Amino acid sequence: MNLTDFSPAPNQGGHPELYETENRAVDPGNLVLDALAELAPWRGRTLVDLGCGSGFWLAAYADAAEVIGVEPDPELVPLAAARPGGARVLHGSAEHIPLPDASVDVVHARFAYFWPPRCEPGLREALRVLRPGGTLVVIDNDWRNGRFAELLRACAGSAAMGSGDRTDSWWAEHGAQRTEVRSEWAFESRADFEAVLRMEFPDGTADRWLEQHPEATGLSYGFVLFSVRKG
Ligand SMILES: C[S@@+](CC[C@H](N)C(=O)[O-])C[C@H]1O[C@@H](n2cnc3c(N)ncnc32)[C@H](O)[C@@H]1O
Repeated sequence: MNLTDFSPAPNQGGHPELYETENRAVDPGNLVLDALAELAPWRGRTLVDLGCGSGFWLAAYADAAEVIGVEPDPELVPLAAARPGGARVLHGSAEHIPLPDASVDVVHARFAYFWPPRCEPGLREALRVLRPGGTLVVIDNDWRNGRFAELLRACAGSAAMGSGDRTDSWWAEHGAQRTEVRSEWAFESRADFEAVLRMEFPDGTADRWLEQHPEATGLSYGFVLFSVRKG
């Protein structure tokens, strides 16, 4: 399959073990999962984790009737498939989801593909595989709230992934509901925190922030969820 929209992720694709450390530190109170369940319950339903990477989050949906991971990076597909829990993992991408029309109830895309603008083909494809009444929820960074947002705004390279205003207006034009979740990253050690921050902001932004916060082992982190319901 020619996945022309595949854009390798430097964090998940380039450093799968360190990205695992990052995911373990994300949102220790599960506020994001609670908000996702509120927006689009998956219990007893079929859920797709689009751009599932190495599959860290697949186990979180254990009470779904079926969990399907979709991932374009051929190195990551087997890692996701090897996770306990029995999720089906397919090679595909946002613009090429290898599933029939109207076959799933919930699609999540967590920090994957949906960096507005230019996401129409993926949005069309997610809506194609959703059943009427089903919901796409995209998990993105909050560019305004939380200390992580300070780093995003300070890092020139992050601009490629969006900005608060541009992202918000694109989703508003596409009829999405916007939900903020104020959470945190909490690492077990300073060394892990430093390594993850340097992976995410390798241009010196992380070094400067870490110098200014010598005791920190985490930071406040704002998420924004954009949800679109298929009518
Ligand atoms: C930052 S990682 C997030 C992985 C996973 N969702 C998580 O939160 O652990 C971004 C993922 O999106 C995948 N990706 C890249 N291009 C994509 C596309 N066009 N459609 C779907 N996923 C894509 C990458 O291969 C990578 O696994």
